[in-house]
Amino acid sequence: MSLLITGGLVVDPSQNLTAARDVLIAEGKIIALEPPGRLLPEGRQIIAAQGLVVTCGLIDMHVHLREPGEEYKETIASGTRAAAQGGFTAVAAMPNTKPVNDNATTTRFILERAKLTASARVYPVAAVTVGSQGQALAEYADLKGAGAVALSDDGRPVMNALLMRRALEYARTFDLPIISHAEDLHLRADGVMHEGVVSVCLGLKGIPAAAEEVMVSREVALAQLTGARLHIAHVSTAGSVEIIRRAKAAGIPVTAETAPHYFSLTDEAVEGYNTNAKVNPPLRTATDVAAIKAGLADGTLDAIASDHAPHSSLEKDLEFAAAAFGLIGLETSLGLSLKLVHDGHLTLSQLIAKMSTNPARILGVEGGTLTPGAPADLTIIDLQREWQVEVNSFASKSRNCPFQGWRLKGQAVYTILGGKVVWQA
Ligand code: DOR
Ligand code: ZN
Repeated sequence: MSLLITGGLVVDPSQNLTAARDVLIAEGKIIALEPPGRLLPEGRQIIAAQGLVVTCGLIDMHVHLREPGEEYKETIASGTRAAAQGGFTAVAAMPNTKPVNDNATTTRFILERAKLTASARVYPVAAVTVGSQGQALAEYADLKGAGAVALSDDGRPVMNALLMRRALEYARTFDLPIISHAEDLHLRADGVMHEGVVSVCLGLKGIPAAAEEVMVSREVALAQLTGARLHIAHVSTAGSVEIIRRAKAAGIPVTAETAPHYFSLTDEAVEGYNTNAKVNPPLRTATDVAAIKAGLADGTLDAIASDHAPHSSLEKDLEFAAAAFGLIGLETSLGLSLKLVHDGHLTLSQLIAKMSTNPARILGVEGGTLTPGAPADLTIIDLQREWQVEVNSFASKSRNCPFQGWRLKGQAVYTILGGKVVWQA
């Protein structure tokens, strides 16, 4: 049966469209977008979207699903339910599972499990190096053949610059982007939070902004050298934003993402030794937050991705230094990001571009558009709906969220995947 979504404000950055439209869906595809009233309702399932935003299904290009290997933290089923609940119709799954997704068998396993259990599309990201150990390149031809859409050793940098050069050259052959976890491990040392006034006051070892920035500089130089597609993950500092801004101005093929926690929190969130605010890269300062917002506004930062990193109380209910890095984000990402729109930092169309159209383009996957013929992946958003973050209502198996109790404005009220409603608030 066909589905007609009537009376909503359609926002589709891929067509530069922000206008009242009815949307007709059949057989899992977008069939037509028409001004209100032209598409006839007879015999069609109707979603009345008056007062709501109807937009491209959101794509989170940086998610840790923990399957295979750490299913007590998250599974492909639970993580993609969290995605659907947060308004996402697709996620890119990082390879730091157990085992690491550095081989075609693991990539195929993830896609098989997704086919059987997932509530969102799952795009596997495979490892740059064997075991993400930074010693030998993985087999990119096999990985691409099995369905990997990008390469990353996320969680770790590729410390050897020559190996990274070879990785970029090899990836370019297969037109696979490399997603860089930009961190110099020597500068990071045994730091556990941002190095600054707060770390000194708390007596915790610091991670300087330079640990990220020297690696972003290196990656940019290697992208220029190789001409390969480079994407910088989880940008957290003002200096990184500036390096990427200059690289783009020079025509170097680099794209970048940040995460909602880097524009919603500062290192002060760590006060009280809150391990849910322990994340890598660490939460930075108010100056960095302002620079991240500016980088989003001027297009230096192409995407917002959650870096959803579930951990259980086994890894988090520990003294700060011993706790794992990471926080969950799929169910708060849209609400936190909409604050940028409510506060006038981004237009709604710019935000949707960063949460759907640009991730699709960077990963080279379908979606991020409502043009007729495209898969019927849509998110319907109530911009005005106020809600309170309650981790116990989350579909994620984990609870490591630093936003518990926050009041947010704006929520996905329907998530539609291939023409089927997979989440309704
Ligand atoms: O905070 C983080 N958690 N940063 C990473 O780079 C990895 C991630 C994880 O896998 O837990
Ligand atoms: Zn990550």
